[in-house]
Order: sequence, then structure tokens, then C-alpha cells
Amino acid sequence: MENQAALTRNRVDQLVQRLRGSRSVLALTGAGISAESGLPTFRGAGGLWRTHRVEELASFEGFWRNPALVWSWYNERKAAHRRARPNAGHAALAQLEKRFGDFTLCTQNVDSLHFAAGSRNVLELHGHLREARCTHCGARRELGESGLPLDEIDHPCGGRMRPNIVWFGEPLLQATWRQAEAAASRAEVILVIGTSAVVYPAAALATRYNRSAYVAEINPEETAISERIDCVLRGTAAEVLPRIVEALSPI
Ligand code: OAD
Repeated sequence: MENQAALTRNRVDQLVQRLRGSRSVLALTGAGISAESGLPTFRGAGGLWRTHRVEELASFEGFWRNPALVWSWYNERKAAHRRARPNAGHAALAQLEKRFGDFTLCTQNVDSLHFAAGSRNVLELHGHLREARCTHCGARRELGESGLPLDEIDHPCGGRMRPNIVWFGEPLLQATWRQAEAAASRAEVILVIGTSAVVYPAAALATRYNRSAYVAEINPEETAISERIDCVLRGTAAEVLPRIVEALSPI
């Protein structure tokens, strides 16, 4: 236990050294950063995809077959997002953004908690649950506190209102992805936080675009990229990120 704590301290110190010498930083976050805000992850114990069928709930085909089922599920998630508050991990990333000239936060999350914590330069790779959009004409509408009423799924143009998120089998929004790739290419440090790093193309930001960046992972569990990166910090986002901010503070 003592050794593990000393190891983590050393690794935080190494990462902080790299951050001190860097101007461009990219952070990639996944569901794990919101776990300490009470939102479930997808693949871990208690994860959403352990008990729900991804092809029914997170694909266009599933939506078209049963839009009411899909909206009932996203409406529940929307309600959970509304109850959730950003945690110390989200807050630490908002602090880091202020500290660097070039800080890009790429998130796979659709819960808006990074904005709630004060982060500004956020690329929401998988969209967000603040809006619905029409499958046919692209019209958008803001989602109320309880999401979309089920009797308002059909749009007058003949399309259907769907959550404004990216589902499996769909491309990411091009403009957003291009900005993310550019940020990954110029980053000197890449922080990978709370993601299993198995969903592409998002996971590629961690390792594929920039071989010279120093890549650090913050995650209590091993992931698909743990063995290929420079610095592994085993701990939760709300524990480890504030320590990094604190260690970075005195210049
Ligand atoms: P996953 O559920 O695949 O991974 C969550 C990761 O968070 C795991 O590696 C956990 O070990 C880690 N974790 C758990 N608690 C944590 C904590 N307190 N602090 C830090 N890390 C913690 O979620 P994602 O990688 O985000 O896409 O999944 C990627 C995409 O797959 C999602 O955006 C979603 C999903 O299907 C769509 O819905 C399109």
C-alpha cells in the first residue's frame, strides 16, 4: 500500500514536470470521469451495457424500430444528468484549462458536466443530450428537464426527433473531429481519463496522432492502452486530477 502510494506520488511528479514544460495539452475523457457524480459507466461493474442492449438503444436501426423505447431510456438518462453535479475531477480539468495557452478537452460523454464545471474549450465527440434533432430535415429542439415527450417524437416534416448524439455505426461530426485531430497532433501532453479506450475513433486520439506526446492515463483499472503509454496513474479522476492541479500550482 505504502509502495503504491509512493509510486503514484512519483508518477504525479513526473507528469507535472512534463506539464510545466508544455503549452499544448489535450484531455480525453470518458464515462469514468462522471462516475463520482453518480452516473454509471458503460462497460465496468454496474455499467449500462451490462444490462442494456447497445444495438437497441444506441444505433439508428434500434431507434427506427422502437423510438419510444429509445427515448424512454434517454429521458431517464437526461433526468439523471440533471440531478448530477460535476465532481472534483471535472473541476480540476476546468482549472487546468485556465493554466494552459492551448488546452482542448475532448469528451465522449453526453452529460454536459464539463460545461457545468466551467470548462469552455470542450469538443463533445459523441454529441450531447441537450437537444433533439429531426432525422429528416435536421430541425433541432431543446430538450426539457424530462427529455422529449413520447407523443412528440414524430416531426411534422415526416421525420422523427432523435437524441442529438452519435450512435454506433455513425460518423462523428466532421468539424468536431477535425478539431480534435488537430489538437491531438499538436499536444505535448495527452491526459486520458475515465475511458476504457475501446471505442474508435475517439480512442485513437490517445495514441495515434502524435507519437511524441507524453500520454498519461488516470483510471482505477487497466485499459486497452495502459501498456502502450508513458504514465499510468491508478486512481479515480476525483482523487488524482486535483492532486495534479495542486502540484502544478506553485511555479
Ligand atoms: P466505459 O464504460 O467503456 O469505460 C469507463 C472507464 O472509466 C473504465 O475504464 C473504468 O475503469 C473507468 N472508471 C470508472 N470509475 C472511474 C473513476 N471514478 N475515475 C476514473 N475512471 C473511472 O466508458 P467510455 O470509455 O466512456 O458511446 O465508453 C466510450 C463510449 O462507449 C461511450 O461514449 C458510449 C459507449 O458506448 C456511445 O454511446 C456512442
